[in-house]
Amino acid sequence: MLRKLGFIFAAFGIAIAGASIASSASAQEGARVSDPGLYKEFGEKAGLTKIVDDFMVNLLNDPRTKASFENADQKHVKAMLVEQFCEILQGPCSYKGAKMKPIHSNLGINREQFNALVEQLQFAMDKNKVPFAAQNKLLAVLAPMHRDIITQ
Ligand code: HEM
Repeated sequence: MLRKLGFIFAAFGIAIAGASIASSASAQEGARVSDPGLYKEFGEKAGLTKIVDDFMVNLLNDPRTKASFENADQKHVKAMLVEQFCEILQGPCSYKGAKMKPIHSNLGINREQFNALVEQLQFAMDKNKVPFAAQNKLLAVLAPMHRDIITQ
């Protein structure tokens, strides 16, 4: 229970400690973690790839997110998530995918689905033994994106 509260807090609380905002057109698009050691804690590119593979399996098994992802180009979305997380974690990547607002604008995503995605990401990070504090630092950067993703 405490664990669950932890991620909800991380996702929607105002705890953005650990996140820094690089100057860019949109604060959410340019945000990075401030700790340069975090990329290693996620196992670098290989670790991120495993986490995102597990994450997508989870999303396809969760009734709250299944419908959104089963018709998507899962391989492409996974590649983009690895690139995006790598950049956020200060890894040697540059995210070249779509901006969060336009890519999600027609999907009718609600708060329950957003929470479900955060929860499934947390399960994937747990499975891959990412330390809890490191998990929360990534979630703190992702959480403000709800403004661009939730449309109903
Ligand atoms: C912090 C939360 C989220 C992040 C960081 C995120 C990130 C991304 C990224 C990087 C892409 C690929 C962009 C591209 O193709 O260039 C994407 C696509 C997509 N996302 Fe999200 N997403 C989030 C939340 C959600 C939620 C809650 C849902 C639905 C339950 C969702 C459904 C989708 C779908 C269906 C696509 C594919 C859209 C298409 O190809 O037209 N996302 N997302």
